[in-house]
Amino acid sequence: MKESSRMTNSIRYDDSAARLLIDNKWYEALQPDLMAAREEMLKDIELLGTDQIPADKQPLDAGFQNLPQQLLDEYEEKQGESLLGRIEAKAQELREQSDRFVVLGIGGSYMGMRALFEAVCHPLHNELTREQRAGVPRLYFEGNNVDNDSITALRDLLKTSCQDPNDVLQRWSLTVISKSGGTLETAVGFRLFREALEAYYGADSEKSRSLVVPITGLEGKLRNFSNEKGYSSVFPIPDNVGGRFSVFTAVGLFPAAVMGLDLKQLLQGAADMTSRFNSQPMGDNPVLDYTATCHLFEREKNVSIRILSTWGKRLEALGLWYDQLLAESLGKEEKGATPLTVVNTRDLHSRGQQHQEGALDKLITNVIVERADTDSVAVPVVPENENQDQLNKLQGKTIPDILSAAIEGTNQAYADANRPTADLILPCLDEYTVGQTLQMLMLATVLEGRLINTNPYGQPGVEAYKKNMQDVLNR
Ligand code: PA5
Repeated sequence: MKESSRMTNSIRYDDSAARLLIDNKWYEALQPDLMAAREEMLKDIELLGTDQIPADKQPLDAGFQNLPQQLLDEYEEKQGESLLGRIEAKAQELREQSDRFVVLGIGGSYMGMRALFEAVCHPLHNELTREQRAGVPRLYFEGNNVDNDSITALRDLLKTSCQDPNDVLQRWSLTVISKSGGTLETAVGFRLFREALEAYYGADSEKSRSLVVPITGLEGKLRNFSNEKGYSSVFPIPDNVGGRFSVFTAVGLFPAAVMGLDLKQLLQGAADMTSRFNSQPMGDNPVLDYTATCHLFEREKNVSIRILSTWGKRLEALGLWYDQLLAESLGKEEKGATPLTVVNTRDLHSRGQQHQEGALDKLITNVIVERADTDSVAVPVVPENENQDQLNKLQGKTIPDILSAAIEGTNQAYADANRPTADLILPCLDEYTVGQTLQMLMLATVLEGRLINTNPYGQPGVEAYKKNMQDVLNR
């Protein structure tokens, strides 16, 4: 991508409306601490792989910070032999060899790639013909819950729609994603769908090995099983990248490649965000600016609920990915803001009342996409005798015009009621802008953790339910 095009497609953070509601002196006072937290993050990278990691920094999963650039550099040097090259080759094989693709994984091994699917792929992807999908298989997500009906529905669908394994339109493939290899939901899903797949292609067939792609850590139950089974490709999840920070490892990249996304643009967006974070001053650095505003409203105004207000249906999964990122990273030691994703205008009709007039504990960050992918749809004009809905007065107005009016009207209503809002603006929704956005939110989460002295990595609280569940099952 040319420099000029990168500039025009850079995402922007505008918190001017929120700043009217807080004393500017707090920003100036925060600056040294924020710079120190950034410095600490840069130093964290140097600690990786050494035995110098202090106890209060463990676990340290800072590998995600530089990973996008490292992957791009490795690709530049080794092309097809690089991880990216191998991911793309295997993804192409699955595209050519199957028409349905089952993705198993939960939490950090699911949400990022789901966000990519919803943000960048066609909104009705699975309904399109293979030709319209440009050979990209239909996608199904499982292993992300414990739901008998949903598992049964997918197994039944695969059974009834796939009866001749020699016909590509009736072939399906599978990826199983688990860093630990021990997560029960995913492991049970893998057994169930592997059983179905082996029954279809033959347990020892070449297809039952080449159409299953495990993505897992360097050690663990899934790694051991995969070695034993001899799957033709098994992609790694690096030790120093935690689950919810793993969207730019094979966890997100392999499914994204099967979806036909441009991995280089995705990684370039993320790498550019890291380099902006590392070098730019406050005011021109979305990570620093976003963190400062979120942190100061929480610290100075007790605003502890962070609403990610997405304007458009394609951003809901990205919002849910962020909910996990913030909640699992900073929700520790009885601290941490509460994230909440809304999709507007839909949720203005459900949560809007509370956001407008409820407790003054919410900071609203609008996520706004400036350009839709498709031509603007205009409101149709009808003969006067059919104008009972009075919409003829909107003659010439389009869906994007209505959306802009909704955003402006809502922001104004919040401003009139002293409710802080800020805008995160994406020029369009593509791999490059989504790459920047995901990396920005990951960096901001870690930066805030360093600022408030909470280790953003690890999720000790999640282990409690897992242990109890195992105890109950073992009774
Ligand atoms: O962020 C995390 O680390 C978690 O959400 C994990 O991704 C999730 O629990 C799944 O773990 P695993 O990939 O080991 O199956």
